Amino acid sequence: MDFILLGPPGAGKGTQAKLMIDKWDIPQVSTGDILRAAVREGTPLGVEAKGFMDRGELVPDRVVIGIIAERLKEKDAAHGFILDGFPRTIPQAEALQEILDGLGRDIDHVISIEVDDEELVTRLTGRRMCKACGESFHVVFNPPVEEGVCDRCKGELYQRDDDREQTIRQRLSVYSEQTRPLIAYYEKQGKLRRIEGTGSIDNIFSRVVKAAGN
Ligand code: AP5
Ligand code: MG
Ligand code: ZN
Repeated sequence: MDFILLGPPGAGKGTQAKLMIDKWDIPQVSTGDILRAAVREGTPLGVEAKGFMDRGELVPDRVVIGIIAERLKEKDAAHGFILDGFPRTIPQAEALQEILDGLGRDIDHVISIEVDDEELVTRLTGRRMCKACGESFHVVFNPPVEEGVCDRCKGELYQRDDDREQTIRQRLSVYSEQTRPLIAYYEKQGKLRRIEGTGSIDNIFSRVVKAAGN
């Protein structure tokens, strides 16, 4: 199964991806996680990406397309993958299609998770993320068993630099302008599955499974 998780910042893409990994035994490919790891390690990629990320803007298409072209060739993605946060622009979607054509495969389902803006701001301002595995928690809605520690891998939890209210608003407006057009793009291709993104995390996961047809 080849999936794209589409949705605004805070919609629950990362949260649902972790559940999908367990069900389908396929990797999550999150450009955000890959870029944050590069920033932390201070690699040339990280140095280039940091300013854009801190401002809540998109990193240039050329950069993220290169990441995905390499990542999807890896062995663990041979039987499927979950793209989380990619593509985010029409040129990225077109480049993805070329990459997949080259590999002789195609996207099965584009799952669009829909949540309104005020709920997104509340989710993101209370989010805590694991430094080691990228799992998302929320101080109120999804607290870890032990404060500051990841349930999944015992890694340290932190607050993302771009989870400040002003940057969140900027990310939401970038989503509306540059990423939302992908909904119509994939709808035209018959690949779009819309799901309501509010309710419990488990309920939303049931909708994901249903949207995937099993
Ligand atoms: P990225 O890391 O992809 O961030 P994003 O798209 O802004 O999405 P988030 O990770 O913030 O949200 P999410 O949907 O994963 O929500 P989560 O599950 O954590 O990108 C970051 C930056 O990197 C971009 O701004 C850009 O600069 C750059 N970048 C990345 N990809 C790029 C690309 N392709 N092109 C160009 N630039 C790129 O959940 C959020 C919170 O809600 C958590 O606290 C969670 O516990 C909670 N929650 C989850 N589900 C529920 C629920 N059902 N009820 C209540 N709370 C819930
Ligand atoms: Mg995420
Ligand atoms: Zn973890």
